[in-house]
Amino acid sequence: MNAPLLEVRDLRVGFQTDHGLLVAVDEVDLTLERGKMLGLVGESGCGKSVTARAIMRLLEQPSGQVLKGEVKLEGRDLLPLPLEAMRKVRGKEIAMIFQEPMTALNPVHRVGKQIVENLLLHEELTPAAALKRALELMEWVGIPAPDQRIHDYPHQLSGGMRQRVMIAMALSCNPKILIADEPTTALDVTVQAQILELIKRLQKETGMAAILITHDLAVVAETCDDLAVMYAGRLVERGTVESIFRSPYHPYTKGLLECLPKLDHPPKTMLPIIPGMVPGLRDLPIGCRFAARCPNAHGDEVLATRQPWKDCGGGHGVEACACFASKL
Ligand SMILES: Nc1ncnc2c1ncn2[C@@H]1O[C@H](COP(=O)(O)OP(=O)(O)O)[C@@H](O)[C@H]1O
Ligand SMILES: [Mg+2]
Repeated sequence: MNAPLLEVRDLRVGFQTDHGLLVAVDEVDLTLERGKMLGLVGESGCGKSVTARAIMRLLEQPSGQVLKGEVKLEGRDLLPLPLEAMRKVRGKEIAMIFQEPMTALNPVHRVGKQIVENLLLHEELTPAAALKRALELMEWVGIPAPDQRIHDYPHQLSGGMRQRVMIAMALSCNPKILIADEPTTALDVTVQAQILELIKRLQKETGMAAILITHDLAVVAETCDDLAVMYAGRLVERGTVESIFRSPYHPYTKGLLECLPKLDHPPKTMLPIIPGMVPGLRDLPIGCRFAARCPNAHGDEVLATRQPWKDCGGGHGVEACACFASKL
């Protein structure tokens, strides 16, 4: 059997709120192949983090629920696993890093102690061996003078160094998959580039696969092999980065691409933006969710009917809204 490394099928995630059940992720399909980097993009609020948390089974409790679907790791559905088995998957098979490492690090413990304890939790090592491994890991992720930094508290490190510590902890047990949720969004631009380069280098060295969540398509262009575009809780387009950058079909994907800075962009003029906002979860149309912001003309039909998924070949597929489907 040659199952993909990770396969998300028909995933629907909802939150129980004062306004009833709100569906944040609706029938999303993703495939992550071995050794590849998948970019998951979309504006803020499109459901990227909720998708990642559902994969890790770290949804906010008790309000967050997977309503249907499958999350298959090498063919095995993770959703029905007992909590104990899922705990083993987290860390050992799939690790996750977040936008703000300060929230994941304990401010009152030295970073060295945190890396060591994380190692002792997952692997059978003596404390001395764990300390040695912690120093090696810090060196591996490019932390200078690890023998000194290991005594620092998180607040004594820069944002970039803290993110390196998180990456070291995430990779300490050689996971098959790293999920990085906006890992560079809180960092300065130059540091962003360094962290992305680091993730890419580590991915190459270990052969692990990664899901890189970002609202920034420029980041995807630099680092990813495949791309999945989400809009308002749904997948609107997916394919290889090459194919989508060459010929995007969905008006939302096109809009995101047009917002990227280009070499011939006139200096000191504004970059284009997609007018309007991602709709809230309370009144989503049954049909195309992008219709209200779409530059194409469209009728009520498009809003009232779920638009069909169309495979365009080579793994490139799109939610084929009637406003452009005839051109596919
Ligand atoms: N715990 C929660 N309770 C209710 N709604 C939530 C919760 N977490 C996220 N949402 C909603 O789910 C949608 C998707 O959020 P999220 O996945 O965080 O977006 P992003 O693509 O920016 O990561 C948003 O509308 C958000 O308000
Ligand atoms: Mg998010």
